[in-house]
Amino acid sequence: MVINKANFIVLKALYFIEGVSWIMRESKYLRLFLSPDGSNFDSFVEVLRNCMAHLKEWWAVPSPIPEDVDLFREGSRLPEAGEPPEQVLADLVVRLKRCRRLNDRNLSFMRPSPNVYSVVVLCMASLQNPNNAGRVRWVGGKHAAAFQYEVTPNIEEESIKMLADIVGFDRSRAGGNIVSGGTVAILTALLVARDKSLKGVAREGLFGRKSVKVLTSRASHFAIRKAMRILGLGENNLIEVPVATDEQLKEFVKSRTPLPLKPSESEYEERLEELGKRGEAVIAVIPTVGTTAARTIEPVEPLVKLRNRYGFQLVVDAAFGGFARLLDEPAKKMRGIEESDAVIIDPHKWGYVPYPCGAVLFRNSEDLKLLEYEVPYYEPAPTVEGSRPGSSAAALWVALKTLGKEGYREIIGRCIENAMYLEKRLREEGHYPVHEVDLNTVNFDVKCDTCNRRAQNKLNERVVEEINKRRRFLIGFIRELPGIKIDGEPLSTIHVEFMNPYTSEELIEEFIDELKHAYRNAI
Ligand SMILES: Cc1ncc(COP(=O)(O)O)c(C=O)c1O
Repeated sequence: MVINKANFIVLKALYFIEGVSWIMRESKYLRLFLSPDGSNFDSFVEVLRNCMAHLKEWWAVPSPIPEDVDLFREGSRLPEAGEPPEQVLADLVVRLKRCRRLNDRNLSFMRPSPNVYSVVVLCMASLQNPNNAGRVRWVGGKHAAAFQYEVTPNIEEESIKMLADIVGFDRSRAGGNIVSGGTVAILTALLVARDKSLKGVAREGLFGRKSVKVLTSRASHFAIRKAMRILGLGENNLIEVPVATDEQLKEFVKSRTPLPLKPSESEYEERLEELGKRGEAVIAVIPTVGTTAARTIEPVEPLVKLRNRYGFQLVVDAAFGGFARLLDEPAKKMRGIEESDAVIIDPHKWGYVPYPCGAVLFRNSEDLKLLEYEVPYYEPAPTVEGSRPGSSAAALWVALKTLGKEGYREIIGRCIENAMYLEKRLREEGHYPVHEVDLNTVNFDVKCDTCNRRAQNKLNERVVEEINKRRRFLIGFIRELPGIKIDGEPLSTIHVEFMNPYTSEELIEEFIDELKHAYRNAI
């Protein structure tokens, strides 16, 4: 329709009538929001209680695998008119009941059951919808936006200091921020490494510059590759050192000696020497503390010495294993982390905080300056993200305060002990753990004296299928242990990971019985 003066007046009149009638009608959608006098607060709490009651029935079933695994999709058409929330929530609850339970029998790939008080806080704080994008500065000042712009940023700052304590940084010097997860934390740390090493790059860009390298191990997370690409450093400039020597692989095949799955200091040193001779700069080295597939702890201490000699940024990806530094044995294995330049630590992994909650820490908070932007209306937080959920900061703060050092030691310690116990029992049953157990995970081959690698991989997969089919336990299968090839074949293993604080030795014995049954059917 062409808008001319005549129909503009008609349109205005129509909008006016519609507007007036909307106000007079008392929209049915108003109940989707809390009323200013709080009169519908109780009905909101009631809805929450009803949903939780439905989920409670579902939660109390012991099997970690839901009965109905036939996932349906409803289609994605936006409804013409809003549907009653009771109906929409009831539909959603049906769908949520098809999720795996995060209970004591769920031993599959990284499924942390969150601290319930953090879950409550996420919901509670979200009513205020705090945004940690930055702190208030403009007209109106503190009084205008106190909760949104001061309270949860302060909570974030306190939480960051507590995380700094965990990894051994000096809390008075360290800084960092909460991000959506390990991927953005790695991106942030590499951005800082890039901008510190390549002066002027933030404004001028990378075009016309010589390429630079980043070193990591073959067991590291693909988030590093992603960051190389996003930052314009190029995936081809990521050099991945091996995590097993030929000798170790031979011993593994010959006598089933578990692989340490750790790169040696000399691997890094040789690459640094070689690149140095070719005049190629290495801007960062990234060891992993708690690798994704095997949760092994790669040595950090030797890299501190190399950092001091070669001058790269030492970024430790402790997204998974960082919280385990509170325990003596893992802390010994990750010695040196406290001297690194930056650490990735994800509270939404072993910190038992609900998603999304990752964190990047810098030993020296000065590094955060490289992430700062000048804007006229507020002081933006030094982060690559924009709006960020203050509710996540609150959920983290509550998890840290309710568990404390002792709580994390107990719960994480139990997970590690369970992994050690399973490792021992597997050996007694004649099966073969494929790597040394550092943290909470055991990857293993079931016994088969006549199997070549391909047959062993197939047998392992059948055993996993048999176990999961019976729905008493849920376990994982790693199709390819990163960086390992045996006779040209990938190493596919059975993956058991302990994260749930209720998993006991008795339950592991039950698992061993289940494994015996599955093995008989699979062989
Ligand atoms: C060692 C490690 N680093 C980084 C990541 C990426 O974390 P996120 O999935 O939270 O982005 C993961 C995820 O599993 C990981 O295991």
